[in-house]
Amino acid sequence: MNAPAYVKNPKLIAWVAEMAALCKPAKIHWCDGSEEEYNALCQQLVDAGTFKKLNPVKRPNSFLACSDPTDVARVEDRTYICSEKKENAGPTNNWVAPADMRATLQPLFDGCMQGRTMYVIPFSMGPLGSHIAHVGIELSDSPYVAVSQKIMTRMGKAVYDVIGTDGAFVPCVHTVGAPLAAGQTDVTWPCNKTKYIVHYPETREIWSYGSGYGGNALLGKKCFALRIASNMGRDQGWLAEHMLILGVTNPQGKKYHVAAAFPSACGKTNFSMLVPPAGFEGWKVTTIGDDIAWIKPHDDGKLYAINPEAGYFGVAPGTNFHTNPNCMASLDKNVIYTNVALTDDGDVWWEGMDKDTGKLPDHLIDWQGKDWTPQIAKETGAKAAHPNARFTVAATNNPALDPAWDDPAGVVIDAFIFGGRRSTTVPLVTEARSWTEGVYMAATMGSETTAAAAGQQGVVRRDPFAMLPFTGYNMSDYFQHWLDMGDKLTQAKAKLPAIFCVNWFRKGEDGKFVWPGYGENMRVLKWMIDRIEGTAQGAENVFGISPSYNELNWTGLNFSADQFKTVTHVDKAAWVEELKLHEELFTQLAYHLPVEMTATKAALAARLATA
Ligand code: OXD
Ligand code: MN
Repeated sequence: MNAPAYVKNPKLIAWVAEMAALCKPAKIHWCDGSEEEYNALCQQLVDAGTFKKLNPVKRPNSFLACSDPTDVARVEDRTYICSEKKENAGPTNNWVAPADMRATLQPLFDGCMQGRTMYVIPFSMGPLGSHIAHVGIELSDSPYVAVSQKIMTRMGKAVYDVIGTDGAFVPCVHTVGAPLAAGQTDVTWPCNKTKYIVHYPETREIWSYGSGYGGNALLGKKCFALRIASNMGRDQGWLAEHMLILGVTNPQGKKYHVAAAFPSACGKTNFSMLVPPAGFEGWKVTTIGDDIAWIKPHDDGKLYAINPEAGYFGVAPGTNFHTNPNCMASLDKNVIYTNVALTDDGDVWWEGMDKDTGKLPDHLIDWQGKDWTPQIAKETGAKAAHPNARFTVAATNNPALDPAWDDPAGVVIDAFIFGGRRSTTVPLVTEARSWTEGVYMAATMGSETTAAAAGQQGVVRRDPFAMLPFTGYNMSDYFQHWLDMGDKLTQAKAKLPAIFCVNWFRKGEDGKFVWPGYGENMRVLKWMIDRIEGTAQGAENVFGISPSYNELNWTGLNFSADQFKTVTHVDKAAWVEELKLHEELFTQLAYHLPVEMTATKAALAARLATA
């Protein structure tokens, strides 16, 4: 139970003792992050029935976990930002006063780990010791969380060297909320129907109760790297963003770095691993991160970004050799799958995996352990994999991994991209004419919802900066923080990163996507680089600058000027309606809304009126 000798921080040791006294685990396991520990915990999960070991010939060292059917996604309605003042959480977050929330959680956490082991999981978000990185300690009674954190973060002993005797760490407490009485047999996926995902921004604490799944339980990801880190970023002058980071190198060897924000399950992983299509010989895209970026300004006036994570927790359904060949190659070994289907030869399967061949397996065990056949699927609509089924895999498995992905200094950001899933209205690509206009585009972004969060799917919701579920403070103050960052960079006489708004998802009258997407997005990316280099003029419209048909490289793709018009045209009537929704958002966010937002909207409305 005692802390190992290499843990030298009295505050940390006292906190673990205090939490153990509260949660009353049967044992404490101080994780060291070694391979031996990982293998032993995976074996323990196999023995407990939580993991199935996959066929070692087909998927070496890989496992399948199937969750409780009620624990399959982030629970946004159970997620709380408990700041001292309600207005500091803002209208987009659930809020409860910290004292009240502590009073609610105290009895829930009292004895919550009985009969279980408490894992002490030390992790660094970002390269160990990088000045952009920060560390945390997660206490969890889930061995699934412990092994997942080994993949998703830099987890292990070395974190204690960073913490030293008096270094700071973010304390994260997680329980599945299912204490075991003496002699009680466990279920394969313990959880509780009561769930709380709680953040105390002022004290930088995270408390998570009742779920073992993804962002609810792997507390380094959404809870720390976005909700708590957005608070740290505002206070310390940096940005914590729901963004992939990619490197793109032209045939002359010149490299650019782009950070791109898309709502959950809108293809961030695909874009970050993009394979340039025919017509782009000599171009290379490399991945720095697929979900989260921490971005800090330097004295040189540039923005430096790191990926705080070390692995990918990506959506499996829809992933195939056409949509993301690099991802498929990443998934051939050392993977933890969650809620995908099991084939008769011990491999995994999910909807959309065989899109190229169109062939379906004759028989599977679905994610809920039931028989699945194409016939059953046809008759009942049953999905073999849950739509939010995931893979958890180390970044180092990715053949397109950028050599600088682990560079403590980070990479310089040349452009930001913001994109939602919109079947109508928003054009393929538009460049903002100014930082403020870019902030407006990002702030008013809307997207059709997906399975990554529990709740209704397919409705358009405003998702400012793709951060709606992740901004850990008042959204209007967050807009202001972005405007302030722009001012700071301008004062440093730096060239600000360009800001683009994209939409890969526009549909035609037949209800089908018009833009082919995936690797073909390279055509748009190249235009952005041409804009950065000043070699593409673009055409100005009411919203900003968009390409003319001839400015995109069409070699290797049959895409007519008419089709281009379908994905780029600005429908005045639709935009008049859209602006009403921007107004609705601004009414909701009226407290502290920067005047720049309403002024930009007024200018846009005036231009639209005369267009
Ligand atoms: C994710 C999400 O899992 O955004 O990355 O939901
Ligand atoms: Mn995400």
